Amino acid sequence: MSYKTWFVALNVALVGAFAWAYARDYNAQWKTYQRNYYNMAADALQKQSDAASNPDDKAKLHKEAVAMRETPLEIKQIITKDLGRVDRCTTCHVGMDEYVNPTMTNDFTQNPYKSHPDVAAMNGNHNFQKYGCTVCHLGQGLATTVKDAHGFVHNWEQPLLQGKMVEASCARCHQDFEHLKGAEVAAEGKKLFYEHGCQGCHSIKGVGGVVSVDLGDIADKPLERIAGYNFSRILVDGQPGHYLPESQWTVVNWILGHLTNDPMNVIPNDPLAKFNKEPVAPTGMPNFTEPDATGKRELSVDDAHAIATWLMSQTDEPIPYQYIVFQKPAPEPHFTSAVAHGKFVFEKYGCAGCHGLHGTKGRRNFNALGPGQVNPETDMDKGREPTLVDVVGTFTHDELVAKISNGVPASAISRFNPNGPVTPLYMPAWKDKIKPNELNDLATYLLSIAKQQNVGF
Ligand code: HEC
Ligand code: HEC
Ligand code: HEC
Ligand code: HEC
Ligand code: HEC
Repeated sequence: MSYKTWFVALNVALVGAFAWAYARDYNAQWKTYQRNYYNMAADALQKQSDAASNPDDKAKLHKEAVAMRETPLEIKQIITKDLGRVDRCTTCHVGMDEYVNPTMTNDFTQNPYKSHPDVAAMNGNHNFQKYGCTVCHLGQGLATTVKDAHGFVHNWEQPLLQGKMVEASCARCHQDFEHLKGAEVAAEGKKLFYEHGCQGCHSIKGVGGVVSVDLGDIADKPLERIAGYNFSRILVDGQPGHYLPESQWTVVNWILGHLTNDPMNVIPNDPLAKFNKEPVAPTGMPNFTEPDATGKRELSVDDAHAIATWLMSQTDEPIPYQYIVFQKPAPEPHFTSAVAHGKFVFEKYGCAGCHGLHGTKGRRNFNALGPGQVNPETDMDKGREPTLVDVVGTFTHDELVAKISNGVPASAISRFNPNGPVTPLYMPAWKDKIKPNELNDLATYLLSIAKQQNVGF
């Protein structure tokens, strides 16, 4: 080809590229939404104008309608300097932009046109022009397509918190969220976490058990640290056949995956040493979908969502102090008896995490001894931790105190299959964590719940 032909061809290509870019921008998704909004708002004003009886009002409303329809389209953004965010959400969610819609209310029923729910409490206490949107909702503030902005895309680690899960944000700023109107789900989640003994194995910012990971920054967990292999084994809300689609591989669903599935199915590891030199037990995390003493699953799907909501408030992301609502930690309650105090201690340290609610059900400990074990390959999952109400009656008070103080290392726990893996769970030594007076009352409580031993005279 001659230089001239090159020149012409490249020029044609360049003009084509410009045309394409122009067309693409002209048809940008957000423009359609914004234009629709102005048209809808103009129609509403025109309707008011038609209905008005006073000619002055009629004319005024008509003028407003015309102006609304002609509003130029633009990218809107809220820059929140203190919070370090730039949020363009109102580019589409125009009804939530104070400058376009000063009352912040409208009658539209569809997103992105409708006004914000509970706008008095939300915008009233956290002016959106100062707080932006993503501090509560997460999502990708700068993006201008629905999919990118809502953040369910590859490499965006903070997609929208959906539905009530947005309450995770309340707990990030409001230390008083357990008593805050509008944060009930997050408060319930925290309560369930401690009731079911999650803190027996997990710490939160250093406070709690040492058996598994600290969950104090779980909301920040990089997805690359979670294997696709594990993600692809998660069933949505535990429903058979409903595997989590890849677009939903998020931290929220990683948490839910542990609570609405048997975690052993999600993280099976290699108990028969098929791929490794040494066998590796499946995860030690208990199966919270098993029934409790009342026959219902210990954690319902709603319970799991509540816990996930609270856990999504657990982040290391700094929030400036002016945006934090401080509260003094509640003082420890007073108790009328050693048993009542001991029960409190049992719950505080999460003994239920391994020994079940009120010590009534030893949870699974893979390859420990358990009832009904026959086949060394398939029955390792019947291994159990002790059910305290059944066993503590054989201890004296001092023996109990010693046992809880010193714990039992995994190496000392008898295995069902001697060639199988070391048990994933062990009895932690609590002597550095539990104060002597707490330990005393804990032992008193345990003896009070011991089932009567059948001495068989
Ligand atoms: C390009 C337009 C667009 C942008 C930008 C956008 N949204 Fe949306 N948003 C929509 C549309 C359309 C819907 C309704 C359909 C849907 O849920 O996907 C919606 C729905 C929502 C919902 C309700 C979702 C639900 O599950 O019911 C929330 C919350 C939301 N958006 C928040 C945000 C936040 C926060 C931002 C900024 C980070 C944002 N949106 C940016 C268009 C947009
Ligand atoms: C102080 C926290 C907070 C801020 C700031 C905030 N929101 Fe919300 N938003 C909420 C809560 C709470 C809900 C209700 C969630 C629920 O119960 O489903 C909500 C709901 C929504 C919905 C869903 C409405 C529906 O009924 O379908 C959209 C869309 C939305 N917000 C967009 C925004 C946008 C855009 C901004 C920024 C201009 C914003 N929010 C700022 C807390 C907030
Ligand atoms: C970025 C931090 C932040 C987030 C996120 C946040 N708030 Fe707030 N909120 C504040 C601050 C700061 C105040 C003002 C407190 C004051 O004026 O003393 C406040 C005030 C309030 C108030 C009125 C005062 C009170 O304590 O009763 C309510 C109600 C409230 N927020 C509810 C919520 C709810 C519900 C959520 C979650 C959907 C939420 N907030 C999310 C920081 C936040
Ligand atoms: C991470 C799991 C875990 C937690 C949390 C835990 N335990 Fe244990 N506990 C075990 C295991 C495993 C054994 C069995 C050790 C063995 O086989 O000898 C055990 C044994 C015991 C025993 C002895 C039972 C017997 O028959 O030998 C007592 C008593 C006990 N735990 C009390 C507690 C109390 C009280 C707490 C809370 C402060 C607690 N445990 C928290 C795992 C745990
Ligand atoms: C008996 C000990 C034990 C108890 C009790 C326990 N977990 Fe776990 N949990 C584990 C172990 C071990 C892992 C690591 C699993 C794995 O990935 O192999 C884990 C992992 C997790 C993870 C994923 C953490 C990450 O960084 O990937 C979450 C979230 C979680 N647990 C939440 C909970 C909640 C919520 C509860 C209470 C309802 C709970 N756990 C109770 C042992 C426990």
